Amino acid sequence: MKDIADLKAMNAQQLWHPMGHPGELQKNAPVIIDTAEGVTITDIDGHTVVDAVGGLWCANLGYSNDVVKQAIADQLFKLPYYSAFAGTTNPQAIQAADAMVNFFKDDGMARVFFTSGGSDSVDTALRLARQYHRLRGQPGRTKFISLKKGYHGTHFGGASVNGNNRFRIGYEPLLPGCFHLPSPYAYRNPFNESDPATLAQLIAQAMEDEITFQDPSTIAAFIMEPIQGAGGVIVPDASLMGLLKDICDRHGILFIADEVICGFGRTGAWSGSRHWGVQPDMMTVAKGVTSAYFPVGACLFNDKIADVFESDQSGEGSIWHGYTYSAHPVGMAAVNACLSETVKADLKTNAAARGDQLFAGVTQLMAEFDIIGDVRGGHGLMTGIELVSDRGTKTPMDMATIKRIHRATYDAGTMVRIGGNNLLMSPPLILTEADVDRILTCLRTGLGQA
Ligand SMILES: Cc1ncc(COP(=O)(O)O)c(C=O)c1O
Repeated sequence: MKDIADLKAMNAQQLWHPMGHPGELQKNAPVIIDTAEGVTITDIDGHTVVDAVGGLWCANLGYSNDVVKQAIADQLFKLPYYSAFAGTTNPQAIQAADAMVNFFKDDGMARVFFTSGGSDSVDTALRLARQYHRLRGQPGRTKFISLKKGYHGTHFGGASVNGNNRFRIGYEPLLPGCFHLPSPYAYRNPFNESDPATLAQLIAQAMEDEITFQDPSTIAAFIMEPIQGAGGVIVPDASLMGLLKDICDRHGILFIADEVICGFGRTGAWSGSRHWGVQPDMMTVAKGVTSAYFPVGACLFNDKIADVFESDQSGEGSIWHGYTYSAHPVGMAAVNACLSETVKADLKTNAAARGDQLFAGVTQLMAEFDIIGDVRGGHGLMTGIELVSDRGTKTPMDMATIKRIHRATYDAGTMVRIGGNNLLMSPPLILTEADVDRILTCLRTGLGQA
């Protein structure tokens, strides 16, 4: 291993990082995270902080779960890889499928398709949605509807339904036939509507209008996150998801819940859909499925979809889609261990309690700092602080100041994430009361540096 000075000199010189400017990062190199334990990470200079980002909304079990680590290590020695393309499988995959379907039974899920991450899972859902309609004799159903501010990964399909132009404009033209409805973002929206329940009604009306305009018989699926994560922790009114699901059902449009962040307890329920009392047709998951100990994602399907594929007699029901690492035995061992650890620790209950505490704390910070324009959360461990330079005009805070606040918070002992003019938090779901207090103390220090 190179020494610290060499690593710093080489940092970002050859490695292009996701979601960053390569030239800029060569000048302002990323923090080198060297070790992790529990809910903390330590950088190469030995500075240890609470990881309020949870890796990237994913390290639900924290960094020290030896059961998951051992399961991965054992599987590496037993069967490090074999393909799951039709014709072969592995014991871990068979058990992981059973565990996943059981985990999401109350959401109405009946079948699972494994992938290597969230973007893979979203593209799987979009592609199989089209195939489902073809199998039912409706090949004209090819379009997709989604919400602005939604994030669904960066493959061409996912980017096309994404609702933040940062992930789109450099890569256009994207998939044709993708249309976007307003986000349930009560702080800023084209209706100038601050009441979340009224906003939900307006979005439902916009959906009806768009579906009529497009012609329902051309639309394959609608996709949404139960709580929008990367878009800024945008919590909809409790009515929204159900309203949109009813509209989709009436028009024969499949409803995909993108649970890549919300799944596995983050919202305080085992899925975001369950949190809002909705049963989707498909769910996309990743992140918490292995708590990031191994890259795995999945797309799940309800009985309605399973029946159409499984009863097909034409041969067109074959799934000509998949990834080399779909149902990877080491990944599947991670899923099996992670699901049982997640349930055993009852992560959802802790996420709900600590999420309430964190949200109450940032609400208090809003009373102290007028650069906080909005705080969002209160539904599990997803919390956002929107920074503004002027509360009256809601002018977004400039990036130099946000970076200064971020750095000061880090120096004080907590890693948070910048997303636009928001500070975003999605800590490990094993967080303690004392950890939340520490996060809030560091944020207070950071915000004081504005
Ligand atoms: C809701 C949602 N969908 C999809 C993705 C894409 O997942 P991945 O980065 O694993 O491809 C993400 C990633 O953050 C996400 O938050």
